[in-house]
Amino acid sequence: MRQPRDILVTSALPYANGPIHIGHLVEYIQTDIWARFQKMRGERCWYVCADDAHGTPIMLKARQEGITPEALIARVAEEHRADFDGFRVGFDNYHSTHSDENRHYASLIYARNRDAGHIAKRTIEQAYDPVEQMFLPDRFIKGECPKCGAADQYGDNCEACGASYSPAELKNPRSAVSGAVPEQRTSEHYFFRLADFEPMLKAWTRGGGLQGQVANKLDEWFDAGLQEWDISRDAPYFGFEIPDHPGKFFYVWLDAPIGYMASFQNLCDSPKGQAARLEFDRFWAPESTAEVYHVIGKDIIYFHALFWPAMLHGAGFRTPTAVFAHGFLTVDGQKMSKSRGTFIKARTYLDHLNPEYLRYYFAAKLGAGVDDIDLSLDDFQARVNSDLVGKVVNIASRTAGFISKRFDGRLAAGLPDQALFERFTAANAVIAEAFEAREYSRAVREIMTLADRANQYIDEQAPWVVAKQDGREAELQGICTQGLNLFRLLIGWLKPILPGTAEAAEQFLRIEPLSWDQLAQPLLDHEIAKFKPLMTRIESTQIAAMLEASKEDLSASAG
Ligand code: 2FM
Ligand code: ZN
Repeated sequence: MRQPRDILVTSALPYANGPIHIGHLVEYIQTDIWARFQKMRGERCWYVCADDAHGTPIMLKARQEGITPEALIARVAEEHRADFDGFRVGFDNYHSTHSDENRHYASLIYARNRDAGHIAKRTIEQAYDPVEQMFLPDRFIKGECPKCGAADQYGDNCEACGASYSPAELKNPRSAVSGAVPEQRTSEHYFFRLADFEPMLKAWTRGGGLQGQVANKLDEWFDAGLQEWDISRDAPYFGFEIPDHPGKFFYVWLDAPIGYMASFQNLCDSPKGQAARLEFDRFWAPESTAEVYHVIGKDIIYFHALFWPAMLHGAGFRTPTAVFAHGFLTVDGQKMSKSRGTFIKARTYLDHLNPEYLRYYFAAKLGAGVDDIDLSLDDFQARVNSDLVGKVVNIASRTAGFISKRFDGRLAAGLPDQALFERFTAANAVIAEAFEAREYSRAVREIMTLADRANQYIDEQAPWVVAKQDGREAELQGICTQGLNLFRLLIGWLKPILPGTAEAAEQFLRIEPLSWDQLAQPLLDHEIAKFKPLMTRIESTQIAAMLEASKEDLSASAG
């Protein structure tokens, strides 16, 4: 028998200062589908994530709320976990970058890079808030746009005229924290010498682990020259103090990706990891044959495709097998907007709609590229209603009743149309290839073509007519058994996308959790449960209520 693959897959770590929204969910759903697919195939796949808990915005938000950063990140972690559970994002472990494991690996990776000469020290000048006694990140400086004069513009670009500039060019600059006029002060910072890794990074970039568009972007960055990366921040800062430099902290982006390792270490040490004999080194040692994948948004490619492999390499760890970037989400063709009610939080969605709908819609739209995807609300409703309710679930509702009422819930001992069943199972391979390649929209197209074929079979056989005719009992049982077996295949293929619906279908069919290998074996001479509708239609009123509630969220947070 073939040895299962060892796979570690991650999604980007969400910041611990705000709620999960449907924009984030594109990535968690995309990754979850892939991890579930791998598990269903029998691979040893582990999906880990964590909250990204450090940095100035989190420190300031806690201060604003009058609580400690620790209290803030603990509360947000609970909210994030509940949101992910609600959408059935099945992490094997969810941890935090503010953890012992992360402190350990951040310190280790830093120390090894320092000892190898990859850390430099320089004095820099930076904006300083004399009232709050802290250095100010660009986004915490506001002032008038140097081009058009618009008031209250943050950091380095103007929302009114679109100009970009350096924060030092802002007119009448003020600290967004205290309102004080920022001063320029000097401080010693530590830098990661990215250019030391240029040859290694060029080889890694061309090693097949990046999408074409992403590799091209990297070539542009190589051409522009790799700059030293500022990895330290001065106190006050919520993060890890740099072990040999009291008062200096690791910049949040230094320890964020290390959070992938920390979460995996935490999994290894958990009962679940111990039961599976998971070993950290088997995944992270330089000679590891395990596969490591990071799924990320296209805005954080620089961190994951340059800094991260370089830091790992400099510290004697393996580099990722691949980094998969995706695009952003638009709603009805536009950026998510609080005033239109399209800035939809995960929780608000769950208050109104079934998570399986959104999982399906995203899958139906997702390919392996970095293009943005659009949630068109009318199309979302139409597609879910027609594909899932109208096609897939309908096959069971058109056939299961006869099996319950006329045959005590028992399926026939044979299939009347074995050839049709085999035509379906022959699609196993192409559907698997599409999932493996993250071409979910292609997988969904294949599956829905077969769902049409299954409905066509039932239309042709018209069990409701056969049921009324004497002496055609065996035929009726056969048709319904055939229909339910086709339904079982469709549900099996859709299971990575629709884990909740698949579980309900498994209960209805009274079967063990479906795995990819078993799919080709038909379910015969077997007693099933009474059919309950597995999914209801999306009503326009539900979507309208969700949009309305998203507008209310805005007024609540503004008040
Ligand atoms: O961009 C973000 O939302 C970051 N919190 C992602 C971090 S991903 C990883 F590096 F931790
Ligand atoms: Zn302007």
